[in-house]
Amino acid sequence: MNLFHSNSSSNHYLCGLMKKIAITGGAGFIGSHVVRLFVNKYPDYQIVNIDALTYAGNLENLKDIEKNTNYVFEHVDITDERKTEHLFVKHQFDGVIHLAAESHVDRSITDPLSFIKTNVMGTANLLQSSRKIWGDAYSGKRFYHVSTDEVYGSLGDTGFFTEATPYDPKSPYSSSKAASDHLVRAYGNTYKLPFVISNCSNNYGPNQFPEKLIPLCIHNIKNNKPLPIYGEGKNIRDWLYVEDHAKAIDLIFHNSENGKTYNIGGHNEYQNIDLVKTLCTLMDQKLGREKGSSEKLITFVKDRAGHDMRYAIDASKVAEELGWTPSLVFETGLEKTIDWYLKNTEWLKSVTSGQYQDYYKTQYSESI
Ligand code: NAD
Ligand code: TYD
Repeated sequence: MNLFHSNSSSNHYLCGLMKKIAITGGAGFIGSHVVRLFVNKYPDYQIVNIDALTYAGNLENLKDIEKNTNYVFEHVDITDERKTEHLFVKHQFDGVIHLAAESHVDRSITDPLSFIKTNVMGTANLLQSSRKIWGDAYSGKRFYHVSTDEVYGSLGDTGFFTEATPYDPKSPYSSSKAASDHLVRAYGNTYKLPFVISNCSNNYGPNQFPEKLIPLCIHNIKNNKPLPIYGEGKNIRDWLYVEDHAKAIDLIFHNSENGKTYNIGGHNEYQNIDLVKTLCTLMDQKLGREKGSSEKLITFVKDRAGHDMRYAIDASKVAEELGWTPSLVFETGLEKTIDWYLKNTEWLKSVTSGQYQDYYKTQYSESI
């Protein structure tokens, strides 16, 4: 059953219908790409971006679409039960795409409770508001929960996460996301709330906060600062360009059956050390530096506590059922990403001043 048809052949169903979609965490990295896609692609929808603007939220990410008439920003913290419910009363949403979260594993190790508050309680508030305001009149409604492959735990040298892989989260971040996934399914089972969940691998691309590996290294290479590699750099992640993730979310939101889960991945596994070396090579070329000069910045530092070894996604279900596959090859995606960071110097400067400097000192001062 298609709730909201998105392909061009069925777009006529939407004529005259105003769909009100709440996108939480829309000022963050992935959320801003999802908001932009929806605002531009669906002029008949009203997109309401709900974001608390934590350190990771930045309205600069949405400058190009902020004046569009089908876009509204609501500065609300989803852990605030009363304000969250008020938004549901005010806007009468047809759908929710929930991305707001604390998202960085290292921060979850130093401050687990804020992850539990936002990722577990915040999700619970959204579910509760959806249920209360939608009543039992669920027809045409949808709660889409955006989650991570990290809920499945850590792989050895072989194998892939499928939608049937048992949950085995190992960090406070992944545990809090797993708890939120369970809550969404529980509301589906108990209250028949129409939901969809997707679990995606590591994203990269423009607008990512430079605490995560790729933008952190781009920033440090640019400034000739050490590139901190945890442990021996042998951990493996599967990388996906953020716009490909946004397109998958669009497709799943509009075309999935209720109650389904889809894994999304890039078919793109890299050891951290190889990834950082590739970044160094590309940046040497872009910055006109001597070949091999940025690699000298690589510095092996103390490993992350409980560091998951390998993530790898089997994304065949979303490919077979909905026809989604990643569109960019990794080197192209990395080049686009580097170009964006080199061009958007003011953005980078503003997010790496102030609080970021304190975070950086606390996170890395022992080792570099
Ligand atoms: P991000 O940290 O860049 O952005 C999170 C956004 O949520 C920010 O705008 C922030 O202000 C907002 N937010 C945080 N707490 C909030 C609260 N209490 N109330 C309202 N807003 C709040 O995160 P991201 O990397 O864009 O990730 C978005 C979602 O995708 C998360 O749910 C994450 O678990 C999931 N995900 C991320 C990745 C990845 O590689 N980044 C991969 C798979 C899944
Ligand atoms: P990260 O971007 O934080 O994403 P996640 O932990 O969600 O996978 O980290 C990606 C990989 O890079 C992970 O194996 C940890 C490693 N890493 C480093 O080696 N050094 C760093 O400074 C950071 C932030 C990450």
